[in-house]
Amino acid sequence: MTTTALTRLTQLVTNDPSLGEGPLGLIQDAAVVIDGDRIAWVGPSSKAPATDNAVDASGRSALPGFVDSHSHLVFGGDRTQEFNARMSGRAYEAGGIRTTVAATRAATDEQLSANVAHYLAEALRQGTTTFETKSGYGLTVEDEARALRIAGEHTDEVTYLGAHIVSPDYADDPAGYVDLVTGPMLDACAPHARWIDVFCEKGAFDGDQARAILTAGKRRGLLPRIHANQLSYGPGVQLGVELDAASADHCTHLTDADVDALANSATVATLLPGAEFSTRATWPDARRLLDAGATVALSTDCNPGSSFTSSMPFCIALAVRDMRMTPDEAVWAATAGGAQALRRTDVGRITPGARADLTLLDAPSHVHLAYRPGVPLVSGVWRKGVRVA
Ligand code: NIG
Ligand code: FE
Repeated sequence: MTTTALTRLTQLVTNDPSLGEGPLGLIQDAAVVIDGDRIAWVGPSSKAPATDNAVDASGRSALPGFVDSHSHLVFGGDRTQEFNARMSGRAYEAGGIRTTVAATRAATDEQLSANVAHYLAEALRQGTTTFETKSGYGLTVEDEARALRIAGEHTDEVTYLGAHIVSPDYADDPAGYVDLVTGPMLDACAPHARWIDVFCEKGAFDGDQARAILTAGKRRGLLPRIHANQLSYGPGVQLGVELDAASADHCTHLTDADVDALANSATVATLLPGAEFSTRATWPDARRLLDAGATVALSTDCNPGSSFTSSMPFCIALAVRDMRMTPDEAVWAATAGGAQALRRTDVGRITPGARADLTLLDAPSHVHLAYRPGVPLVSGVWRKGVRVA
């Protein structure tokens, strides 16, 4: 197998405190050796073993590829008009999802798959090497199963979100829709997904419905995650903790009891600042969660309605500027935090044995991701040991 080294990195984020300084395991003047699809060696450049190839990375820094643990990429159409109206003062409503449901149902498999590939390629160029994506714009048995099949062509982290909103076809019978989501739709979707998710929110699914949906998914072997407390206070976060969800996502409106529940659980609080940016909503208070001891992840929530960004660097900059995270905390949350939100130990860190996913920055330190917002600093991306950008 071919070995490649990145040498003379001004700084390396390993996320392995046993390898370097602080929680990010920082090493100055560092080298990383990749053997096949794995990290083989990490340490000071002066001690790096000989390799087949070497990339001189002086003046640059590297960090684990970003882990974007929350996106909605299987969709048709776009919602430019809705965004325009919102920026002229209209409020964001969960009902906008119906527009995308109609466009997604009308799209061919090929169009949907090409769309996913397009946004994944965009994300990859910006340093994202692991991505989760969801169904949720089909809302029929066939359209949800199709969305998951297509998602599975592009990533292993596939989430069944038949419970995104009550399907327009069941507008007068929400209980009937929950029966569908937990019955025939689950039967058709479970073989194609790893995760089950529900949008627990006023206008979507209440706490009892969300519990029924996640519990049914768990019985079928799917692992739970939840859209919780995005637009208002509600039962989502505590339900997620009760059901041992890997992650409660959004966490914008939290009571002290919600913060405590997260801090005393294995459920990660995944914050999605692109959504608050694009809907001009209240920022989640990352500082309050971190100070209480909760584990925080950052993701894009990339979707055509509430957060049409695929950029993890943009989310890091927002989290630092507007959610009171330090640059170190934000970088950890976008890498190791995302990995934890997907219950993965092979990604999100640069340590011997981990998957060789690295993002190289044309900047001397990871702090520049927040310090230089909007600047395309990513100058190289390796995924499973292969240079892809
Ligand atoms: O995570 N909250 C629910 N789902 C998406 C929004 C999807 C849409 O507006 O199309 C979200 O923000
Ligand atoms: Fe979402």
